[in-house]
Amino acid sequence: MSVTRAVAIGCGHYLPSRVVENEEFTATLDTSDEWIRARTGIERRHFAADDERTSDLGIAAAKSALANSGIDGSEIDAIILATATPDNTFPSTATQVQHAIGAGGFAFDVQAVCAGFMYALATANSLILTGQAKCVLVIGAETFSRILDWTDRGTCVLFGDGAGAVILRAEGCAGEATDRGVLGVKLRSDGAHRDLLYVDGGPSTTGNAGKLRMLGKEVFKHAVTKLVDIADEVIEDVGVTGDDIDWLVPHQANLRIIKSSAQKASIPMSKVIVTVQDHGNTSAASIPLALASAVSTGQIKRGDLLLTEGIGGGLAWGSALIRW
Ligand code: UT7
Repeated sequence: MSVTRAVAIGCGHYLPSRVVENEEFTATLDTSDEWIRARTGIERRHFAADDERTSDLGIAAAKSALANSGIDGSEIDAIILATATPDNTFPSTATQVQHAIGAGGFAFDVQAVCAGFMYALATANSLILTGQAKCVLVIGAETFSRILDWTDRGTCVLFGDGAGAVILRAEGCAGEATDRGVLGVKLRSDGAHRDLLYVDGGPSTTGNAGKLRMLGKEVFKHAVTKLVDIADEVIEDVGVTGDDIDWLVPHQANLRIIKSSAQKASIPMSKVIVTVQDHGNTSAASIPLALASAVSTGQIKRGDLLLTEGIGGGLAWGSALIRW
């Protein structure tokens, strides 16, 4: 049986040049490199320059993904950009990327915070399966440094800026789990947990962008169980087993969450892509950044089976199985 699948033809990423080591926070905050490393696994993160916007990061990642795919921007017929830190309330940041790379079709943002890339990927997959688009650029791009409260040691040391991008193209496949492409994807959200992770501003509340607020311990508890449960559902739906997975590419929020969810899914750490030490938590950018970094170092190879998973504010979470 021949089916259409959304097959990844390339990926790319971009990190702002400014690197901030944990040590830098100790000048203004009651914190330490030891605490941050031990509790989160983070050693450093990148922060965008004052004049660098989310669209700049997204455009750089998009150009890197186009080069890696060997296609021109004009071949892209849809762009979905996941971000919680858009340049402006409107227009969408995606349309700025569309203009910069000379793409046609249509472009829009999705907002599911740290699960944003999973939501964008699921939407791109649906557009391709329903024939509404043939070649979709999926981007996660964030400048979380703009919404951090620099006096709150419980949050400001955790996040970073960056962008990652994947290009998905419609291809005819056999309809088997051995096909390349997006094999399965699941999304979930639960607005009852709004107060665990939110920004205390916005256009219809304060009129300002606001600052990030988080009850970290509570989010942690939800993260492990929800990620394991949703990943299990995708694995079962696709009809593979945990042993078939070549790489777990998780949201990079905290090394302890990554280790715990890998352990619960019986995936050894040797099969887990970990970039949290160098990127911090880049929200919607974290999964495509980890993915593109691992592709560029040759860890992830064509044909590898990837399990991705992410959770964040909303709460919103999701997981996908992709054969690279
Ligand atoms: O991407 C979206 C999803 N987000 C997440 O997945 C984040 C999930 N949560 C976490 O990663 C962790 O809960 C944190 C890293 C945020 C916090 O780690 P924790 O082990 O849960 O620490 P805690 O919040 O229970 O705080 C323990 C102690 C507290 O001090 P007391 O009350 O015991 O005296 C905090 O005030 O650590 C203190 N603390 C710090 N100490 C030094 C909190 N932040 C810091 C800090 N430096 N930066």
